[in-house]
Amino acid sequence: MQDIQAIQTQLRDELAAATSEGELEAVRVRYLGRKGVVTLMRKNADFSRMSADEKKHFGQQFNQLKRFVEDQLGQARAARQTSPKAQASIDMTLPGLNSRSGHLHPISLVQMELEDIARAMGFLIETGYHVETDFYNFESLNIPGDHPARDMQDTYWLTNGMLLRTHTSANQVRALETHGVPLRAIFPGRCFRNEAIDASHENTFYQLEGLMVDTDISIANLIAMMKTLLTAVFHREVTVRLRPGYFPFVEPGFELDIQCLICDGGGCATCKRSGWVELLPCGLVHPRVLEFGGVDPDRYSGFAFGLGLTRLAMMKYNIPDIRLLNAGDLRFCEQFPASV
Ligand code: PHE
Repeated sequence: MQDIQAIQTQLRDELAAATSEGELEAVRVRYLGRKGVVTLMRKNADFSRMSADEKKHFGQQFNQLKRFVEDQLGQARAARQTSPKAQASIDMTLPGLNSRSGHLHPISLVQMELEDIARAMGFLIETGYHVETDFYNFESLNIPGDHPARDMQDTYWLTNGMLLRTHTSANQVRALETHGVPLRAIFPGRCFRNEAIDASHENTFYQLEGLMVDTDISIANLIAMMKTLLTAVFHREVTVRLRPGYFPFVEPGFELDIQCLICDGGGCATCKRSGWVELLPCGLVHPRVLEFGGVDPDRYSGFAFGLGLTRLAMMKYNIPDIRLLNAGDLRFCEQFPASV
């Protein structure tokens, strides 16, 4: 009896002092192993000198002790897994597993920013088709087959007579046909022109077309929309001006300039000392285009603009070479945020 109590106390002390899984295992071996205290107690017992009652008593005591040791070990193991000591053995200063998160392409970022603001203004967003017909890309935009304006856009023709759209304006008449008027829509997407590639020209680039048709749409609506969009993209007040410009599908047509964001109009190398940077072509929708879309030009008017997303992204993020945008180099993309 004396022995058993001493063993129990000793075991408790040893378990309390054990700080690791390895030390707990050592305690287990010291008690329950082949040469452990409990095991030897049974091996060394001299049953020949015991009466039947003594044997029975010994057996009970032994079983109780063995169960006690097993219980204590089990409890110590369970406690260790949740104890502050166990937690302290996690080194919080070690560097974590490196999980790489994705990044958005700068053109996607600019596009998403513009889409958010246009959506809030009640504009539909449609992407249209990369492969287009002559009708939607040219004819319906008041550019007939013999019109010199076709030379402005070097077209990739497909063998079946279709083409890779040269601009997102190809969506104008499609959208008028599909949705009718009044209409507010933007058409972001890829465009293609057979261009020699250099630092500022690509054969694949992105535009974002805007179209608003309703009764009484004027240049004032156009300017208000442009200022709102550009302020959202550049995160600052943007000053704009219009100069006359020519496109067969707008009348009057304009080139919209913004006051140089680098020198605030004072004149610097970026704006070639003029204080202004040419940003996008726009204008009031030509009556012929409205007619092609089934809209009465005597009742309705509209504005359209063709924002070069590629160029805008380059301006916003100071990207010096257009070829970086299509190169698919992750080291380039990783410099941009993961969300707008
Ligand atoms: N589609 C024209 C281009 O890509 C731009 C434009 C769009 C001009 C809308 C006027 C109005 O060159």
